[in-house]
Amino acid sequence: MNFDESVDRRQYPTLKWSKTFLEEHFGNADVIPMSVADMDIKVPPSVIDKLQKRVAHGIFGYESKPESYYKALELWYLNRHKWKIEQHQIETCSSILSAIAILINQHSNEGDGVIVQSPFFFEFRMVIKNNKRTIVKNPLKLIDGKYHIDFNDLENKAADSRNKILILCNPHNPVGRVWSKDELSEVAGICERHNLFVITDEIHGDFAFKPHQYIPYLAISDTVSQNAAACISPAKTFNIAGMIDAITIIPNEIHRNRFHEFTDRYQTNKINVFANIAVETAYLEGADWLDKLLDYLQGNVAFIKEFLSENDINVSLIEPEGTFLVWLDFRALGFDVKILERFLADKAKIAVSPGYWFGREGASFARMT
Ligand SMILES: Cc1ncc(COP(=O)(O)O)c(C=O)c1O
Repeated sequence: MNFDESVDRRQYPTLKWSKTFLEEHFGNADVIPMSVADMDIKVPPSVIDKLQKRVAHGIFGYESKPESYYKALELWYLNRHKWKIEQHQIETCSSILSAIAILINQHSNEGDGVIVQSPFFFEFRMVIKNNKRTIVKNPLKLIDGKYHIDFNDLENKAADSRNKILILCNPHNPVGRVWSKDELSEVAGICERHNLFVITDEIHGDFAFKPHQYIPYLAISDTVSQNAAACISPAKTFNIAGMIDAITIIPNEIHRNRFHEFTDRYQTNKINVFANIAVETAYLEGADWLDKLLDYLQGNVAFIKEFLSENDINVSLIEPEGTFLVWLDFRALGFDVKILERFLADKAKIAVSPGYWFGREGASFARMT
């Protein structure tokens, strides 16, 4: 496999490369697109092969998720992350964000607070706002180039009875932290003490750079998992976000039944025939491909660092512990936020997500895919 192969994505209405999208978000269609979080690489060859066979079959009627899909998923998490997922805990949902929206609805009321750790993935803002909840920030602390959770602040926010949910992003988009077992245990302790429901978004879980290790939040303890739901997905791992398939793990039976009832009522549990085969194949046969990709991504990070240093560019990179995103610190340039945004799009000609999209704590930073 050649991750350097250049593939023209403009033959299809690819969001990231769309001139309309770039014009709309960056005021310039002539930029290198590095904002949308998907990769410009082909999926594992075996996935392409199986999809081609599936297309050749010629009939794409309704399907269910086969037993083999669940087995492949369970094996992946057990082998790679030492996490035993029980099949009966799995709920299907088309996307992580729709699962998060449902969970917010079921574990809080309008006006209640949902805690996020800023800078935070900007789509969380949309989901919280659209569901008429209040965004409550537990800002991360940047100390010597590394982000940390402010546990005292989290404890205070959790103690406020108006706040019902914490959305954890593990690993964290955009800052690239892979939360350690100690950090997750401390979060869990706080949420347990104050009965805060935890929605843990683990879409980037497969991207941890050694020696860092992704720890599934639900694996912390059985007690912790009873007041939490994990949103996982192969979308980022295998670059198949457009397949629209996600998995929600809800260990608590009452919570799970309520989720199931909702997806049944609104019929948001439909199955995509191509996702079925792609996901199963990727989980069964994609491990080597992913290992090589992780090496490649670390090479990219090293390249960026070297480039910045060799060219004496006054921008620093927050060392990512995982994900395929980098969080760049432009503060030393001293630009006003809006001037920096124009500078990046018009002079540097790159479309990177301006840091303020992730909350004011991200001002003068930018996220590059
Ligand atoms: C942390 C995080 N959650 C969710 C999503 C979107 O997931 P989905 O497309 O399944 O809703 C993304 C995509 O960038 C993401 O980075």
